[in-house]
Order: sequence, then structure tokens, then C-alpha cells
Amino acid sequence: MIVRFLLNGTETEADAAATETLLDFLRERKGLTGTKEGCNEGDCGACTVMVTDATGSKALNSCILFMGQLAGKAVRTVEGVSGPDGTLHPVQSAMVSHHGSQCGFCTPGFVVSMAVAHLNGETDHDDRLAGNLCRCTGYAPIVRAAEAASAEPVPDWMSADAEALTSPFLSTGPSLDGASAEAPFVPTSADALAEWFVAHPDATLVAGATDVGLWVTKQLRDLSPVAFLNQCDDLKGIAVGDGEIRVGAMTSVSDFGAAIAPHHPSLGELIRRYGSVQVRNAATVGGNIANGSPIGDSPPALIALGATLHLRRGGDRRTLPLQDFFLDYGKQDRQPGEFVEAVTIPRQPDRLRCYKLSKRFDQDISAVCGCFSITVENDTVAEARIAFGGMAGIPKRAAAVEAALTGRPWTADTVTAALPAFAEDFQPLTDMRASAEYRLRAATNMLARYFHEDSGTAANVLEVAP
Ligand SMILES: Cc1cc2nc3c(=O)[nH]c(=O)nc-3n(C[C@H](O)[C@H](O)[C@H](O)COP(=O)(O)OP(=O)(O)OC[C@H]3O[C@@H](n4cnc5c(N)ncnc54)[C@H](O)[C@@H]3O)c2cc1C
Ligand code: FES
Ligand code: FES
Repeated sequence: MIVRFLLNGTETEADAAATETLLDFLRERKGLTGTKEGCNEGDCGACTVMVTDATGSKALNSCILFMGQLAGKAVRTVEGVSGPDGTLHPVQSAMVSHHGSQCGFCTPGFVVSMAVAHLNGETDHDDRLAGNLCRCTGYAPIVRAAEAASAEPVPDWMSADAEALTSPFLSTGPSLDGASAEAPFVPTSADALAEWFVAHPDATLVAGATDVGLWVTKQLRDLSPVAFLNQCDDLKGIAVGDGEIRVGAMTSVSDFGAAIAPHHPSLGELIRRYGSVQVRNAATVGGNIANGSPIGDSPPALIALGATLHLRRGGDRRTLPLQDFFLDYGKQDRQPGEFVEAVTIPRQPDRLRCYKLSKRFDQDISAVCGCFSITVENDTVAEARIAFGGMAGIPKRAAAVEAALTGRPWTADTVTAALPAFAEDFQPLTDMRASAEYRLRAATNMLARYFHEDSGTAANVLEVAP
């Protein structure tokens, strides 16, 4: 496929295989070897690049970013972070003066992440750099460098990409819509996708590629035929209505987190711990549901909120409660040629609390993710919606626990009496993330934590009281 984009400000036309990664293209075809290959699976940030489109400039991992996702965008690598005359970017100067680099392998990735945060005025450096791993320097000098640079103005060349997006070179590129069966398909609307997917039901849909990318880089799979959904603007975005919040399937996890936090702050916090900045910028809400993972973070929270899934096959649409979408491990209620269009969340008073347990605070998949929304009226449990990830082969409601709570007084005795019901709902696995016993104990403790937090007892393990 022919892909037109800007590379460090230069108009670039690439004849690329659909699932060639940007990292391979940069290093092997362009000789831009500043961008490093570490894990090749989105975990280390050594391959971070800045990608600019109409929605802004974002840090992304180029190792799981396909060339087919880049049409019409602007890419800036570490080579393009310094000025055209070689002037260092403020984050580069600060990395030097604050001794932010030792072996230097991670440094280009850090520099790009820091430059994007600097451009966007983001100053929570721990958060912004959680997706960049350094094995030798330690983070303190790097964070000090980021703090020092944040006082400096944004260099002109860093804003140039956004202005250049309207260039005729990008807008008059070869049409990617209407490709043949074998060629990658890049629809620009949900209608076009719906028509094509019915005709090619075995195709691989690529949303953010944070799962699919690994099928290529780690499993060396051939995904053809492929459809890239990232140009379907009508599948993106969040609409907050009086009765519900509608989240388009192609809404990025970053955008979802920002939009949902004012309504359900605990879910916003859960999303902050989802992967890293780079992963959240790429991953989509639809992909996090459609992949059917038992340890995906958004499904338990959405189920606890009573969300509805919107599916489409050709011109036919249907809805179902999200919890019913997950049938069994690796099996979802989705027909060939059918795709996720959106998920809707009913507007409700915020009773949601999400608890994610993982071995590492940032950038780690959940061992257990428990989401609770318990409505109390007249000191009695009127409704309990409790859903877990990591406790079964699918994201699953704790039906027996809910039944043990509902209609009973909202007291510590009721909570204690409900705890044994967890063993009726779940027979978790032992795996590398946690043992079955740990998972079950942790799940029961989460309900106790919900009760104590709701009763005004501080239970945030990150806040250490003097
Ligand atoms: C380093 C790293 C860290 C991660 N951390 C977390 C984490 O903390 N929490 C977590 O939950 N996940 C995590 N993940 C997993 C991943 O980010 C999610 O599962 C992600 O949401 C998938 O979305 P995507 O848009 O990237 O999907 P893709 O990879 O593009 O697709 C995933 C699957 O969904 C299908 N699909 C995508 N969109 C649709 C649609 N609209 N309709 C039908 N099918 C569709 C695809 O065909 C594919 O089968 C992590 C991944 C990586 C690489
Ligand atoms: S090489 Fe590790 S995130 Fe890309
Ligand atoms: S400086 Fe060596 S890995 Fe960071």
C-alpha cells in the first residue's frame, strides 16, 4: 500500500506492506536508528515517536504501530526533536545537564516522550514517563531534567507538524478506500467498514494495534486481509447526553479516561494505570472489549456501570448488555462480519470504585481488577453491581455476592456475611501473575475496602499517613 505522511517535516511516500511496523521502516529503510528496538511489544518505550494528527501530538510506540495507520499524519523521531540547525531541544539540554543518561539505550525514547509532554504542557512527569523504562540511570535525574525543561518555551519546529497537516501532499494522497480483497482496506466511515466487513468476514480489524501489533512482532502472523479503522472518524468520540454517555469504539483509551474522570473519578484513575501513555494513546475502547481478554481493565468497570454494547453487521445493528458479550474464554457473542460500534453507559450517581492489583503500579496488566457500584437507599443495599477481571476466563459479575448484599442493611456484618459467596462466583486460576488463593482473598478484601471507603475510612494504600 502507498502511505503518505510527514517524517521529521519531510513529505514521505512509502510503499509498505500493510503490517510493516513504523519502527522497521525507520531503522531499516530510512536509517533513522536513533529510535531503538527494545522489547518490540509496547512495554519499554525505547521506540517512542511523536505522531501528530488533527487531534494533537501524541507519544506512541513505533514497534506496534503499522505503516497502514499513518496515512495523512506527521511523525517526528528523536532525530527531528532537535532543530533543523542542530540546536538541542530543551529536554535534550536538560538531560545532559542533569545527567539523565548512562548507557543511552533508553534515552531517545525518553527524550521523545519528554518533548511531547513539553509540547502539550503536561507536567506530571511520573505519569508521562511511566512507559519508558531505564535500566541504569534511575529515574530521579530524568525527572529532574523534565522538570527543568518544563520552564523553557516550546521550540518553533515542534509546532510545525500540526500546521503542516493541511499540506496538499497529504490531502491528495492515493485513495486507500475501496481496495481489493487482498490489499489493506482503510475505510473512512463506519458505513464503508460495515459493507466491506460483511464481504470479508475473515478479515482482521486493526484498531489501535496494541494487541494485534504483537501478533505480528511476536507471533509473526500474516493478518491479511486487514482493515485499519483509524480513519473512521464517526467511530470516535464521546457524547455525554442526559441519559447516557456514548463512547465510540475507536475512542482512544486516553480520551476515554479524560472524558469519564469527571463522572466516575475512580474509573479515570483506573485508566491512568492502564498500560502507559503510549499504550493508552493507541489502544481503543472497542479493542479492549472486542479482544475478549479476561484481564482487560475497562470491561469490569463498564459492566459495573451497567453498560450496553452496540454491534453492527452490514446495515443491521443490535445491542446487548456488555456482560452478555463475554461467553467463554476466547469466545464472544459476535458474528462473522460484525463489529463493535460503541458502548453506552447510563448516567447515574457515582458509586463506582475500581481496584486494580498488579505487580507493578504502572504499565502492568491486572492480576485482579475489581469494580464495584453499590447503591444504598435508607441504609439498605438497593442494588449491587460487582464485576471482576482476572477471576475467571471472562470478565464476570459476582452474582452470588450481589445477591448476598442486596436488600440487606449496608453494614460491616452484611459485608462479612457476603464474603464466602465469592467462592461460589469464582474459581480463579493460578498463573504467573497470582495464585488462585491470592486472587480470591484479594477479591474479598476489595469488597471490605469498598465498604470502609464508603464509610469514610481512608483506604488508599498510596497515601502514607505520618
Ligand atoms: C504494553 C502493553 C500494556 C497493556 N496494558 C494494559 C492494561 O493495563 N490494561 C488493559 O486492559 N489492557 C492492556 N493492554 C492490552 C491492550 O492495550 C488492550 O487490549 C487494547 O485495548 C486493545 O485495543 P486496540 O485498539 O489496540 O485493539 P487492536 O489490537 O487493534 O485489536 C484487538 C482485537 O479487537 C478487535 N477489534 C478492535 N476493534 C474492534 C471493533 N471496533 N469491532 C470488532 N473487533 C475489533 C481486533 O480485530 C482484535 O481482534 C496492554 C497492551 C500492551 C501492549
Ligand atoms: S521496543 Fe519496547 S516499546 Fe517498542
Ligand atoms: S541509560 Fe541505560 S537504560 Fe537508561
